[in-house]
Amino acid sequence: MSTQSHCDAVVLFGATGDLAHKKLFDTIQALIRRNIFDGPIIGVAKSDMTREQLLARAREGITTYGRGIDEPSFKKLSDNFQFVNGDYADLATFTSLKKALGKSQRPLHYLAIPPVLFGAVTKQLETAGCVQGARVVVEKPFGHNSATAKQLNETLHEVFDEKHIFRIDHYLGKEATQNILFTRFANAFLEPIWNRQYIKQIQITMAESFGVQGRGKFYDETGCIRDVIENHLMQVVGFLCMEPPLWSDMERVRDEQVKLFRAVRTLTTRDVVRGQFDGFLKEPGVAENSQTETWGAIRLMIDNWRWDGVPIFIRAGKCMPLSATEVRVEFHRPPNVVFPEAPPGPHNFVRFLFTPRIEIGINMQAKIDGEVMGGMPIELMAVDAQPDEMTPYERLIGDAIRGDQALFARQDVVEEGWRIVENILDNAVPVMKYKPGTWGPEPANEILMPAGGWHSPQLSETVKPG
Ligand code: BG6
Repeated sequence: MSTQSHCDAVVLFGATGDLAHKKLFDTIQALIRRNIFDGPIIGVAKSDMTREQLLARAREGITTYGRGIDEPSFKKLSDNFQFVNGDYADLATFTSLKKALGKSQRPLHYLAIPPVLFGAVTKQLETAGCVQGARVVVEKPFGHNSATAKQLNETLHEVFDEKHIFRIDHYLGKEATQNILFTRFANAFLEPIWNRQYIKQIQITMAESFGVQGRGKFYDETGCIRDVIENHLMQVVGFLCMEPPLWSDMERVRDEQVKLFRAVRTLTTRDVVRGQFDGFLKEPGVAENSQTETWGAIRLMIDNWRWDGVPIFIRAGKCMPLSATEVRVEFHRPPNVVFPEAPPGPHNFVRFLFTPRIEIGINMQAKIDGEVMGGMPIELMAVDAQPDEMTPYERLIGDAIRGDQALFARQDVVEEGWRIVENILDNAVPVMKYKPGTWGPEPANEILMPAGGWHSPQLSETVKPG
């Protein structure tokens, strides 16, 4: 199973936290089931829990949020699991970790902990002799703004080389994100019209029907723009709008991405609206008078030859009517000269649905049956699939174990992302209230609305709202 460059142990910092509970144990079980990893797993955290209690919690997390328990794989996970219970400020925690690592030569340290702790933890790892041959995975948001992103990078570089740092953004591991690039460049018919001559505007909606799900403190310190817009949805913009890259050399993909981001205009307060759902202030961990946004909408402009003048509207939020992420690329109307008596139909558009299933639909006008030269909108469904057989985390952590950095964020891309949103962070514009179960604050539409209005994802009956 393992080769020279494979990691031979996984260390989970934040083993009792939310991410480990909901995603990471499930991912490790899947990697064991697929024979990608079978080494020691060491959970690190300061907790009242025992090893057995932590494993019971992992089992519950996999059952509730993951893909269910696979008994043989979970048994292997449990047999190989050790728990180092201790404070990150205490060197003894790291000497215990070193002991637990035994003969491991290439551990993967997964930092599922608040970024403020990264510096202390990596230094302790170094002091305790746990960084030789090691890789480190860090979770977004990478920093809190441009300056802290740079500091964080310097901190990581004090201990790890760039080739051993894996900045995880799970949107890069999503089948649906990669499908955008594939659909654009594996076909001949889209690319010639994928530009300002034909495209009128782009809308991206990431709606989530749930709230902050017990992550009040994290979310209050982060907010919607930092949580999903600056990273996940910007990655989507990258794949939608970049010039043709060379997929076999992922550095070239990241070069194209950074080239595109450099052309994105720095946002101003006129390009953003922020909302907060009623009830957010009562969430545990949220400050009394918090002004943090749980909903955000922005308008991006790209100053390059291909996209000049094409607005990209992005909207994301918690407590919306349903859970769905959708991209809608809308074309200009044809001139109304051949069938002037027919009312102009809707704009043609291409629709990429990310969740809860993957769909790519091409929307056009077709003639209605009969004598009249009138049309009706139809959708040609190009892709209609269940979500990833392999989850993004499984794919990306598997890549990190193998040492493949291709689908991880590069620092220059991260810094450009922060530059774009820098002026709209925190309380740059006032936050407006909205009712849970709505599409966001009503007055927001008067400030920032795509021509023809926002198009909310419509889920087919076969898809259950999340
Ligand atoms: C995470 C955010 O990175 O992405 C969450 O912290 C968000 O707030 C999640 O819910 C969405 O991911 P997905 O894959 O469900 O679209």
